[in-house]
Amino acid sequence: MQSHGASALAPSGKACASATSPAAMAEKEAAVLAGRRVALFPLPFQGHLSPMLQLAALLRARGLAVAVLHTDFNAPDPARHHPDLAFVPIRETLPEEATSPDADIVAQLLALNAACEAPFRDALASLLPDVACAVVDGQWYAALGAAAQLGVPVLALRTDSAATFRSMLAYPRLRDAGYIPIDEQRLDEPVPELEPLRVRDLIRVDGCQPDALCGFIARVADAMCASASGVVVNTFAAIEASELDKIQAELSQPAFAVGPLHKLTPAAAAAEHDFRYQLYGPDCVAWLDAHPPRSVLYVSLGSVACIDRGVFDEMAWGLSISGVPFLWVVRPGSVRGGMPALPYGLDWSMGKIVPWAPQRDVLAHRATGGFWTHCGWNSTLESVCEGVPMLAQPCFGDQTVNARYVTQQWGVGLELGEVFDRSRAAEAVRRLMVGEECAAMRERAHGLKTRANQRVAAATRAIDNLVDYICSLSTAPC
Ligand code: UDX
Repeated sequence: MQSHGASALAPSGKACASATSPAAMAEKEAAVLAGRRVALFPLPFQGHLSPMLQLAALLRARGLAVAVLHTDFNAPDPARHHPDLAFVPIRETLPEEATSPDADIVAQLLALNAACEAPFRDALASLLPDVACAVVDGQWYAALGAAAQLGVPVLALRTDSAATFRSMLAYPRLRDAGYIPIDEQRLDEPVPELEPLRVRDLIRVDGCQPDALCGFIARVADAMCASASGVVVNTFAAIEASELDKIQAELSQPAFAVGPLHKLTPAAAAAEHDFRYQLYGPDCVAWLDAHPPRSVLYVSLGSVACIDRGVFDEMAWGLSISGVPFLWVVRPGSVRGGMPALPYGLDWSMGKIVPWAPQRDVLAHRATGGFWTHCGWNSTLESVCEGVPMLAQPCFGDQTVNARYVTQQWGVGLELGEVFDRSRAAEAVRRLMVGEECAAMRERAHGLKTRANQRVAAATRAIDNLVDYICSLSTAPC
């Protein structure tokens, strides 16, 4: 699988479009560099904006002109980015269910796609003919179709793992085989096509009708196959070689494994991509400085997940009882029913609670010894790259898939389980942070970190190959 990172592979030995002659390539590259742009369109959520903006910075640094088309909803701030990046609002009008924190994520994604298709098409059309290629988030199935209708070659950026994308491609077959909708009686059965996933690890969204989820996944997979000229995946072969191979075997377009994207951009740039940076607990790093190496548990459930008050209370009690120092991100809006008061009678002397944290800095800090996480893909990659073992509490969507890889495939974490109380949480925290099991996980996590960092050079080559491919797609005369 080395070659996945270093180049795009065509399936079944077919030559992919990047394999044009060097002279033709240079000519096309020159055409792009002469002013035609790459138009990027991120999905307006933190876990999707960050990798797309990291990609934007990398393409710009390779000399491509980049325009970031964006929604007004959760818009990135151009002033916080390199002046050469152009930002183009699509000026959408969104229905309430597209933005409401109470809407389920599938309803939100369906509504966003429906409402943004025409504004995206208009914004992209306004840039023509100076667009060589578009790169849109893989969940923007409507934008994939719209770009293709305008005759603009378009790539899909998957901000989730290769395993997740692979399981999305397999959904129709899983449905035919009776694994979908998920049967509560079969939760512990392995899914043969998707090893190491069990039925319980398949993508799901609580509260969302199985048909709606299947319908959404089918639209994403269909748009990918019908409209995309390739897929860009924020992962790397050291952790997902076989998943990348299987994706490539299934697709007729090339797949570019360009991850871990965040490692290719400077840590200082993390705040540029973070539209909640104003919420940073100002003294997170100073607080960590005062702790011994690997003594602190970092706790965060990402940028979208919402938990019930009862779960929050058990987490709070579990942390307090564990006796382990902790830094806990309690994001505004992350507990249903509003920001809760802390349970009465708890000992908080060991902990610190902040509304948002500079996560990459926290995970890289020598005092951080473990990460209680929802296993969003960005958080998972960031933890893997810093060698920090994880306590997995997946909440929805792809997080169950990632949690299975963290705990089972890579052996760098523990499952908390879907239902837990304070004593189970406290025990899991102690197992993660001290003792033999902890030592073994830390050793494996260190091994993964080493491989991730060795991988950076290959990811850099993968970006170069992606740039070549983008240029090869630029067929219109300038
Ligand atoms: C969700 C999905 O679960 C994820 O897999 C998908 O690809 C994107 O949408 P999200 O809840 O945003 O993701 O989690 P994650 O993918 O982990 O992204 C969260 C990002 O926010 C990370 O880059 C993390 O560093 C950042 N973050 C989080 C902070 O910078 N500070 C915080 O306090 C918490």
